[in-house]
Amino acid sequence: MSEDHHQNLYATEDFYWGREPNDFARRALDFAHGTSAIDIGAGEGRDAVFLAEHGFDILAVDTAANGLAKAMRLAQERGVEVRVREGDVNSLELDGSFDLVYSAGTIQYLHPENRERRFAYFQKHTNSGGVHAILTFVDHPDIPPAPDWSEGEFLYAPGELREYYAEWKCLHSHSLVFDDDSGGEPHKHAVEEYVFEKP
Ligand SMILES: C[S@@+](CC[C@H](N)C(=O)[O-])C[C@H]1O[C@@H](n2cnc3c(N)ncnc32)[C@H](O)[C@@H]1O
Repeated sequence: MSEDHHQNLYATEDFYWGREPNDFARRALDFAHGTSAIDIGAGEGRDAVFLAEHGFDILAVDTAANGLAKAMRLAQERGVEVRVREGDVNSLELDGSFDLVYSAGTIQYLHPENRERRFAYFQKHTNSGGVHAILTFVDHPDIPPAPDWSEGEFLYAPGELREYYAEWKCLHSHSLVFDDDSGGEPHKHAVEEYVFEKP
């Protein structure tokens, strides 16, 4: 699968992931407070727009410019503002700090050798008492790699994410397996979702 995979997926009028937020965005909202937020790997903006609707001043980041253009369109349709920036989770540079760092289904693109350093970087750019709400794909003995999995994606080991947040309070954790038919072929994913709070 090429690097342009999502850029091509987002080139059509319709919203590949839909316009309604991920259930995880709704759950994250129960723990989030403050106003400044970033959605890393925002796709076409369904969750960033939802968070903007709930009062967050949000920066939506993704490698796919076509997704970000749709995020802006969706925000306009909903009467909210979402700022967008093209960026790679491995190298994105941030100005200032956030109350909420949100990421759903994207941090598997963070290369394993970069993880410790990059999680520390995102943590540094978080206000005290701020939260990170992260949903990630994890390895599972009974679930084969998804048919649309690409070379640039790296599953997390079960519980691995928690290790990067050893000093933070875990407010929420949940593991689940769900059915997906992205790519046109039915398959399953194992995911872990977490909300961590900065001391
Ligand atoms: C499974 S989609 C999730 C999109 C969105 N969070 C949602 O739930 O609708 C993964 C997203 O990660 C983006 N992505 C891929 N590689 C990335 C990278 N290195 N840095 C940031 N985003 C990346 C893709 O363009 C895609 O939009």
